[in-house]
Amino acid sequence: MIGRSSTAKGKTEKLKLEILKKVRQYYGLAHKPAKFIPHKTRIQYSGRVFGPEEMEALADSALDFWLTLGPYGDLFEKKMRKFFRSRDFVAVNSGSTANLTAVMSLMSRQLDNPLRAGDEVITPAVTFPTTVAPLVHGGLIPVFVDCEIGTYNINPHLIEAALSPKTRAIIIPHTLGNPCDMDIIGDIAKRRGLYLVEDSCDALGGTFQDKLVGTFGELATLSFFPAHHITMGEGGGVVVNAGRFSRIVRSVRDWGRDCWCATGKSNTCGKRFGWQLGDLPMGYDHKYIYSNLGYNFKPTDMQAAVGNAQVERIPDFVAARRKNFKRLYKGLEAYCDRLVLPTLDSRSNPSWFGFPITVKEGLSRRELVAWLENANIETRLVFGGNILKQPGYQGIAARVPGPLEQTDRIMNSSFFIGVYPGLTEEMLDYVLKTFKGFFAEKADRVHA
Ligand SMILES: Cc1ncc(COP(=O)(O)O)c(C=O)c1O
Repeated sequence: MIGRSSTAKGKTEKLKLEILKKVRQYYGLAHKPAKFIPHKTRIQYSGRVFGPEEMEALADSALDFWLTLGPYGDLFEKKMRKFFRSRDFVAVNSGSTANLTAVMSLMSRQLDNPLRAGDEVITPAVTFPTTVAPLVHGGLIPVFVDCEIGTYNINPHLIEAALSPKTRAIIIPHTLGNPCDMDIIGDIAKRRGLYLVEDSCDALGGTFQDKLVGTFGELATLSFFPAHHITMGEGGGVVVNAGRFSRIVRSVRDWGRDCWCATGKSNTCGKRFGWQLGDLPMGYDHKYIYSNLGYNFKPTDMQAAVGNAQVERIPDFVAARRKNFKRLYKGLEAYCDRLVLPTLDSRSNPSWFGFPITVKEGLSRRELVAWLENANIETRLVFGGNILKQPGYQGIAARVPGPLEQTDRIMNSSFFIGVYPGLTEEMLDYVLKTFKGFFAEKADRVHA
């Protein structure tokens, strides 16, 4: 192939700089934050927050036209590895595929002791559907444990009694960014020899006993959908804390292949035609040898370019989420006779995804949510509620070792509002004023 001449290269570089400058100008005009107008401006529960850097990176990647995961992907994975100080970090195209990759990795034949169909996995009954779907697809049996009002996490004190000789793993989300009790859960996993996977999709940057969420188990998963702490548009990642999983996770993400060459590369192993694996003939092309049941879950390099710029913002984003949470907590404390506010554990420093609220008896969640939504304040329920009551999950092979009372209460009485960095002080004041209005109206009705 004939390379570009140095004059052509100089010209394209100059043009690129001009384009990127224009992109920056465009950002300033097109994406300036709009003025907040109470009642009119939608107070989102979450959303993407980005600057000119993300748009420039995206344009740069588009001009390179690499398309598949490439240089920006490498940079992004490297930065995330550094952030977690993990053995590896593998970018994927969603939090859901991160969970599927993690579960398929635990089932890999390349492990000495993989999970097998019929094995049990401890997980909470209040959950996100795609934390559970990979278990069902793998023929594993989810064991649904009750959750706690306040933390909205698995009740750690119920786990031990839920174990059976078939239990092989614990897969737990840190709901809405509030870290699970990793002291108890980590101890059970260690003592009983269980694999531990943290679904950290909602919790990037949070800590428990000063240790980052996502670094406790063999694997952890993240989502970079716009509602999450950082975004790539669609995207996710698997944090690998146990070195033996690094190649397995990459293999599952990359079609299940045995070969670990980067895109466009060949013979990284130095013996592309020198392998004999499975019942394949000696010398079968390593590029087409599949050691795992895998898929193609790679994001594009353009997604990685955006993620790469977002990583720089993690400390500010986490700080903003904490600050917004605190402001709401302080403002809502006045109603703690009617609302259950989030439970704070002195050992943890959450990186909140949202602000969860449970209405106490005598108060209608429906009325409060309608009041907020009418005021243009977005609300969400706590994901799937009791997952076993979801139409797609009724009748799945599962074990339920005890009553799911708190789970059902969360399904019936809890919801959350936003704390994301796009919320300003005046927006949060408006949210608090709207709560005040609700309770004033209720008092009027009682006294009328
Ligand atoms: C706890 C949890 N796990 C997994 C996911 C799935 O992530 P994604 O939407 O990127 O597939 C979500 C999404 O919100 C989530 O909250």
